[in-house]
Amino acid sequence: MKRIAVLTSGGDAPGMNAAIRAVVRSATYHGVEVVGVRRGFQGLHEGDMRLLGARDVANIIQRGGTILLTARSRTWRSPEGRALGADYLRQWGVEGLVVIGGDGSFHGAHYLQEEHGIKVIGVPGTIDNDLYGTDHTIGYFTAVETALDAVDKLRDTAASHERIFVVEVMGRHAGHIALDVAVAGGAEEVFLPEDEHPDQHIAEVVRSSVSKGKASSIIIVAEGYPGGGMAVTKAIEEQTGLEVRLSILGHIQRGGSPVSSDRVLASRLGEAAVEALLAGRSNVMVGRGYGGTTYTPLPETWEKRKDVSRDLYRCAKVLSI
Ligand code: F6P
Repeated sequence: MKRIAVLTSGGDAPGMNAAIRAVVRSATYHGVEVVGVRRGFQGLHEGDMRLLGARDVANIIQRGGTILLTARSRTWRSPEGRALGADYLRQWGVEGLVVIGGDGSFHGAHYLQEEHGIKVIGVPGTIDNDLYGTDHTIGYFTAVETALDAVDKLRDTAASHERIFVVEVMGRHAGHIALDVAVAGGAEEVFLPEDEHPDQHIAEVVRSSVSKGKASSIIIVAEGYPGGGMAVTKAIEEQTGLEVRLSILGHIQRGGSPVSSDRVLASRLGEAAVEALLAGRSNVMVGRGYGGTTYTPLPETWEKRKDVSRDLYRCAKVLSI
């Protein structure tokens, strides 16, 4: 293999730059050239790409966002859009593509391989940690730290005003961020999309916030919980008459310099992606699990559900007594 390409796609995640750096440097180490595609699949179908050398990725390991830019491409959803992208890759002599992103990006990569026979490797880059086949995704650790920092600050105000604060965190349809933040932030309650009885849960919380007699509370709600933070806030206010404030953390959770765990994970997986292409693998995501590198067929990463840790969920409940 003489030349490969790399792109970032979907929501940006802290550590994507570290992954780009690792792909470029590992490929260069093996004598393989790297083409950087800008704006994800959108840029691919527009032919927006250039060669990247080892020095082009200097001084980016500590930066959030992605130097290659990213997009959620609509055109890529059509076979015509994908055919254009495949043509550009052939014109540039690209023999394999590394896609750093989440499940939407992996769908795009999978179709490129299926329809045009281009070798693709997925690198899990999303704050949501919702991909089956890897213990963690790049960006997750930093997002948890960012949300936790906000929760710690909100607790000062909650305690001073003796108020209940509902804090909504990201995670799309998964509750991984919410659960970690709840445990690490000592939250009184956590609402997850994985909750099997959402209505019953709200009623329990309402009863317990009154009976426990806590002056202030922090309640973490994953955005994927039915109705999100707004529904939980309204229900508690209406049923208890207590004063509740809602704080939706939003996109700050995607920004900032990646923490060390994300940089290390990104470096490992970027290198593993190149090695996988050189070993002739395709249509798999490289991940980490069981103490080593894992290779999961791309469709499995979105078809199989990565559940939240039930142990940790139980722990969160026990500790909020
Ligand atoms: O997948 C990352 C994520 O930040 C989710 O947590 C969130 O639901 C979504 O992206 C927001 O997407 P957008 O930036 O397009 O609003």
